Amino acid sequence: NIPVITIDGPTASGKGTVAHKVADKLGFHLLDSGALYRLTALQALRRETNLNDEHALAKLAEHLNIHFAGDAIYLSQENVTDAIRAEEVGNTASKIAALPAVRQALYGLQLSFRKTPGLVADGRDMGSVIFPHAQLKVFLTASVEARADRRYKQLIGKGISASMQDLLMDLKARDDRDMNRAIAPLAPAEGAYLLDTSAMNADEATEQVLKWWAA
Ligand code: CDP
Repeated sequence: NIPVITIDGPTASGKGTVAHKVADKLGFHLLDSGALYRLTALQALRRETNLNDEHALAKLAEHLNIHFAGDAIYLSQENVTDAIRAEEVGNTASKIAALPAVRQALYGLQLSFRKTPGLVADGRDMGSVIFPHAQLKVFLTASVEARADRRYKQLIGKGISASMQDLLMDLKARDDRDMNRAIAPLAPAEGAYLLDTSAMNADEATEQVLKWWAA
């Protein structure tokens, strides 16, 4: 029984960073499930697929040629690590993630990440849908202001200009879509530990998750 730790939460809650650190610390594999939705979105934008065509989008998702190499992500041999982080790709990802056929198309791929010695999976529905029997489930939250502030610093750090007001609007719109969709809505999974990271840095949050794991 290969252990799984799920870390779910809203956009910019820090779950990606914390999942990375926990996986590093335990020597576990990592599943960044959001990247799979982002890759599907990037492919759809490039191919100008109709974003209302659920069947076509599910087909795209099913036939993604993805390759993970350390922190780098390849789509059909092209390094798209930075390209999938664009705001437009994130917004498109959240739109197509509301389509049941797209989620279904990515289901098996997500399960395949569970390999010895263990997996840390981060996303929205890791604990509720994909790995409901995970040994540890965590739901990371943070106030919308704290999350906008983090995203702002991330972008500025990369030399990308950003407006705090736009970021706040964007975050709220994404939260709204992720929480109110009919399928796999963003919510704490049954049995999940809640962790509010508004006043915590990534190392402190990581430490808490590791404490729960060890308990
Ligand atoms: O980086 P950020 O937290 O904003 O997003 P992400 O984790 O990369 O995911 C991008 C989008 O994919 C989210 O807004 C969700 O709508 C969707 N997603 C999902 O529906 N289920 C997952 N397990 C992961 C992501």
